[in-house]
Amino acid sequence: MTVTNVIDFLVRDHERLAQMRLEMGRSITKNMLVKDKVKEYIRHFELHEALEEKFLISPIERLRENKEKNDLLQRLTDEHHKIWDLIGQLWEAINSRRGFVQQAYFDLFAYTESHIREEEQVFFPKVSKLLGEKMIADLGEKAQKYYEHYHVQV
Ligand SMILES: [Fe+2]
Ligand SMILES: [Fe+2]
Repeated sequence: MTVTNVIDFLVRDHERLAQMRLEMGRSITKNMLVKDKVKEYIRHFELHEALEEKFLISPIERLRENKEKNDLLQRLTDEHHKIWDLIGQLWEAINSRRGFVQQAYFDLFAYTESHIREEEQVFFPKVSKLLGEKMIADLGEKAQKYYEHYHVQV
């Protein structure tokens, strides 16, 4: 896999996550291997978050203080927390009564889809502007190495 920069890399990972969300949905509908699929998704999402933390959020944090930067970081962090809450609710639903699983899955699905759309349409273009071409290219290489290293364990 050849990567040009960290943004393209994360967009490609979003596609992988979208695929996994659909698989998770199918397993919930058929009531098959639900826990395995959800665990697999959680592991991959954890990796995705780690990539965004290390190769997007941290580099922005190191930039000079400005309002745009602070707002962006706040929003990203809040949305990631919300996704973890929804994942927690899905896991809880799976481990309790089945009736809530579909709803919990739908809530997670809808929120994640809109988060990813926002990242790709609003956040990532801002990040590219804030960090500059050279930096996002260097970060792309580092992100890819990190991914290849940890993906083995996913
Ligand atoms: Fe994200
Ligand atoms: Fe993302």
